[in-house]
Amino acid sequence: MTKLIDGKTIAARLTTEIAAEVEKLNKEQGCQPGLAVILVGEDPASQIYVRNKARQTEEVGMRSFEHRLSHRVSQQEVLDLISGLNDDDGVDGILVQLPLPDQISEHRVINAINPAKDVDGFHVVNRGHLATGMKGLVPCTPLGCLYLLKETLGDLNGKRALVLGRSNIVGRPMAELLLRENCTVTIAHSRTAELEAECRRAEILVVAVGRPQMVKREWVGEGAAVIDVGINRIEDDEGRQKLVGDVDFDGVSQVAGYITPVPGGVGPMTIALLLQNTLQAAIERRGLSRR
Ligand code: GUN
Repeated sequence: MTKLIDGKTIAARLTTEIAAEVEKLNKEQGCQPGLAVILVGEDPASQIYVRNKARQTEEVGMRSFEHRLSHRVSQQEVLDLISGLNDDDGVDGILVQLPLPDQISEHRVINAINPAKDVDGFHVVNRGHLATGMKGLVPCTPLGCLYLLKETLGDLNGKRALVLGRSNIVGRPMAELLLRENCTVTIAHSRTAELEAECRRAEILVVAVGRPQMVKREWVGEGAAVIDVGINRIEDDEGRQKLVGDVDFDGVSQVAGYITPVPGGVGPMTIALLLQNTLQAAIERRGLSRR
């Protein structure tokens, strides 16, 4: 019987723990962590993400600073805003919601953030820290996937893991995190030979490709733990919009040992880990201790 990995419940528990730590930090050390979020343009999905981030930031007792800019804003204006936030001592975390409009280089903007405030973990310094096994801020989505895997399986030592997808935001950092846990890690992608057979060998399968329901039942080994990072909007048979992952949930849940649903799996974990990263950034940047 496949067991559902309930990201919603696990994220709620983690968020409650973070709120308790924030309260303690505030009472004992007079520190209230602050998160600044920059949204450029009016993309409806990004607006929803940013609203949810701001709401949850305040719910755990942190300060939330929202900066909404027109889609016509220049790159220099965004860089100037980041420079001000880097210098603002009340701001512990800075997040620039992606994607950005064409006139703005994501690379330039992300790398203008002070790495100590880069709670997305996308800055080359933080990506380098993770790749070389040093301490730093780690991208929230792969961190959330790892949290779910450890909650579900406990020790990951020696497990055969396959990450499907090689993006800088999910696939690569995910593989690095699994390696840090002593898994034997394969990164598979669109050019991988015998992809189906490679996937079937994995005891842990993390899928982040952005292709609706691509991974089928035959791709998954008996008893594997399957983490589905995809969020795709498709039309069902009656023409209604629905959200599905990169994994064919109905088929795969007949063979997998554990599986995350979409929605309610990885999604809720991403914001919880963003809050955890903001707490970590506040503690480390201000030289405080986690008591
Ligand atoms: N857009 C989609 N996912 C993310 C994310 O994890 N961080 C940021 N900054 N933007 C995103």
